[in-house]
Amino acid sequence: MAAGLIDGKAVAKSVRKELKGRITALKERGVVPGLAAVLVGDDPASQTYVNSKARACEKLAIYSEVIRKPATISQDELTKIVEDLNANDRIHGILVQSPLPKHIDELSVTLTIRPEKDVDGFHPHSVGMVLIGRPVLIPCTPHGIIKLLEHYEVDPSGKEVVVVGRSNIVGKPVAALLLQKGPMANATVTVAHSRTRDLSEVTRRADILIAAIGHPGTITADMVKQGAVVIDVGVNRVDDPSTEKGYRLVGDVDFEAVSQKASLITPVPGGVGPMTIAMLMSNTVSAAEQTLLTGI
Ligand code: GUN
Repeated sequence: MAAGLIDGKAVAKSVRKELKGRITALKERGVVPGLAAVLVGDDPASQTYVNSKARACEKLAIYSEVIRKPATISQDELTKIVEDLNANDRIHGILVQSPLPKHIDELSVTLTIRPEKDVDGFHPHSVGMVLIGRPVLIPCTPHGIIKLLEHYEVDPSGKEVVVVGRSNIVGKPVAALLLQKGPMANATVTVAHSRTRDLSEVTRRADILIAAIGHPGTITADMVKQGAVVIDVGVNRVDDPSTEKGYRLVGDVDFEAVSQKASLITPVPGGVGPMTIAMLMSNTVSAAEQTLLTGI
């Protein structure tokens, strides 16, 4: 039986609808949420992401700035840009698009962002708050995954969740969120990775399988339990001369085969991707709301 599709575009739309009300309420109190994106270099995927984020702001009437700098920027110059944004009252959220050039110390840049403006949720303060079960600004992709599960009434409580991939921006934080005591959590979580022995044996235990590897088609049908819910975080460009751009986007999951076994599955594109941007908007609005509560 073919799996049901998890429609990330539709869920992202419902998140945006909810945000519109909060943005209107903020505007009535004289606050326009503002997001600044810093883009260093000319990586095509990063440019696409940053443009999508700016367009999403425009649609919601969130103020946005994109600061574009050449790959030759120095650490000090980049630090100064972030410090200026920290002090800028129009800006409630700051993101520095990764990857950064090799000569830049990315952690040092992340540490410079004021935690109150850390809408990516990458600052160790945000990461730590997630880990101790007191999330403030939650990393966007993991938060988007939880929202998708919630929308499709997939309660992780007591379930076996296997996360494949241990990145700081997806694998580790989504695992931390799902193992917390509380709603949309309480799962038994396994994090598998490139050194996991017998990966298929581990993934076949999953009631909910989250693939965040960054390699096309890694999760094949034989690695999936019948009826599992499959969340594909991968966004991989594969050459395809038949398309206008010369490539197409595919996930980490062999979609055609796995959808014959799963009960629910996210497509790529149109699954997790739209949720990441919607949750970035959500964090920006939350950060703006906090300034009214705290006065900073
Ligand atoms: N590079 C790839 N994904 C992201 C993201 O969500 N935020 C930032 N800042 N950089 C990224």
